[in-house]
Amino acid sequence: MNRLLIVANWKMQTTLAEALVITNGIKTGVANLTAVDIVLCPPFPWLVSVAEVLHKHRLAHLSLGAQNIFWQERGAYTGEVAASMLTGLAKYVIIGHSERRRYGHETDQEIKAKLSLASQAKLTPILCIGEEKMPSAALLADPSDLTAKQLARPLAELEEALHGADRQLFEQLVVAYEPVWAISGHGQAQAATGFYANAVIEQIRHKLVALAGPSGKSIPILYGGSVTEQNAGEFLHQPEINGLLVGGASLKVKSFVGICQTAASIR
Ligand code: PGA
Repeated sequence: MNRLLIVANWKMQTTLAEALVITNGIKTGVANLTAVDIVLCPPFPWLVSVAEVLHKHRLAHLSLGAQNIFWQERGAYTGEVAASMLTGLAKYVIIGHSERRRYGHETDQEIKAKLSLASQAKLTPILCIGEEKMPSAALLADPSDLTAKQLARPLAELEEALHGADRQLFEQLVVAYEPVWAISGHGQAQAATGFYANAVIEQIRHKLVALAGPSGKSIPILYGGSVTEQNAGEFLHQPEINGLLVGGASLKVKSFVGICQTAASIR
């Protein structure tokens, strides 16, 4: 896991014209940053157009991801998109993002089914987990006393999503630790500290190894939540953090390219 992974989650933002401007800007800005893996996850309707920009003079380290799939493979599900419909178009798919759990009322069983369908469709799933409750300022500054209570939610989400999963899924999987209180766009968000995110991710790593066996050691674990060009280095310098899932700052070419440059300067 020597390569850092930086994922842009554009959520339900951008017109098509904006998406293309951002894609072109990022493509130019990261062209030389070949040591970092970078993924753009635009809204569904823009996937094909963004793919066309990426495929022209393709950069091997810049790929496409989707933000969701449905938990069934085929059928009468109006408005939904199956994993297999993305095969050959996207390489990654975000699964179980807290906004989908909250607004789409996604259940743990659905998330589990989506992971398996993504794996069968040869997509790399980025499984999002994270707690709702913000820790105290003292715990954020010094997470050595991280409590079982604070960890309960992300570890339970991990267990629910992955117990009994097969080897193929564990080999493809990426996990993103995104504390819900740190995600921007929902009121008073504040990024975690690097120390806090690192401490939680260390526990997530233990749990992954318990679930997956030794292969759990090489599953990339990202941090996400109010990442900016300014704080990216604080997270990327942490030994347990293998990359970032970036929302708001990924819509600004300069900020996102700056985050990718920081990643490239570290590894
Ligand atoms: P944010 O979003 O960077 O805007 O906080 C991150 C995410 O929700 O993936």
